[in-house]
Amino acid sequence: MDGPILVTGGTGRLGRPLVTRLLADETPVRVMSRRPRPAGDDRPYEWAQADLGRDVGVDAAVRGAGTVVHCATGARDVELTRRLMRAVRAAGAEGEAPHVVLISIVGIDDVPFPYYRSKLASEGLVVSSGLPWTLLRATQFHDLIATLVTAQRRLPRVLAPRGFRFQPVAASEVAVRLAELAQAKPAGRVPDMGGPQVRPLRELAETVMRAGGWERRLVEPALPGRAARAVAAGALLTPADRAVGTLTFEQHLGV
Ligand SMILES: NC(=O)c1ccc[n+]([C@@H]2O[C@H](COP(=O)([O-])OP(=O)(O)OC[C@H]3O[C@@H](n4cnc5c(N)ncnc54)[C@H](OP(=O)(O)O)[C@@H]3O)[C@@H](O)[C@H]2O)c1
Repeated sequence: MDGPILVTGGTGRLGRPLVTRLLADETPVRVMSRRPRPAGDDRPYEWAQADLGRDVGVDAAVRGAGTVVHCATGARDVELTRRLMRAVRAAGAEGEAPHVVLISIVGIDDVPFPYYRSKLASEGLVVSSGLPWTLLRATQFHDLIATLVTAQRRLPRVLAPRGFRFQPVAASEVAVRLAELAQAKPAGRVPDMGGPQVRPLRELAETVMRAGGWERRLVEPALPGRAARAVAAGALLTPADRAVGTLTFEQHLGV
């Protein structure tokens, strides 16, 4: 279908490189953000100011889009997705149904963190929407892991729960894959995407400290509960053949 690709969350960690990639391919893009377009931003995309949390401006943002790549997120992820899908369905009822592309997270079925439950419910809304859809699950982005560790910088110790392992991936590499999916026909659930290495959180935390030039003692408590057990058992990792990202955590942080 014609019409620009609407990127919700086009200002976020993943949305930014996705928008850049789409523009590099000369694909018409519309960026959704809660904020007004920054002064002096003259990149060749449309800007749609909309708030999925308050349901303001969403219908106008969606109108005429041929594809909607949903990268916006918040603590109550499913509420944002519900409002978006309502608007996309309404737009589809007036003309050709837009293709909805959703980014989600590897392993969320097995890890009952509240955010992951909400994300799983978002997947359900897209899959059962009756609209054409594509769903890609990726592992944690390098920047997320780095942010979680750096947030503890002011504390006397850095927590790295015992047994926790991650397979971080560059958001820029996920963006490339997502752009390819957004430019193609709806594909349903596509194979998961993970970073090149599975690493204990302890090692990742040490790398973040080294890259930032600071040091704290690491503590590795054994966390109780099903979610923590699942993470320690590797629920958030991909099978080896889906470790398709190439940029390592160290390369990303430049150490
Ligand atoms: N981070 C990871 O490690 C990771 C891994 C796998 C999958 N994912 C998934 O990838 C997606 C993007 O994650 P991210 O890390 O790029 O997120 P992020 O950097 O936190 O960005 C969130 C985006 O959501 C937008 N947003 C938030 N609330 C909104 C609202 N009420 N209405 C409209 N837009 C709103 C923000 O735009 P404004 O502030 O401009 O309004 C921002 O662009 C999420 O679905 C996430 O679950 C993330």
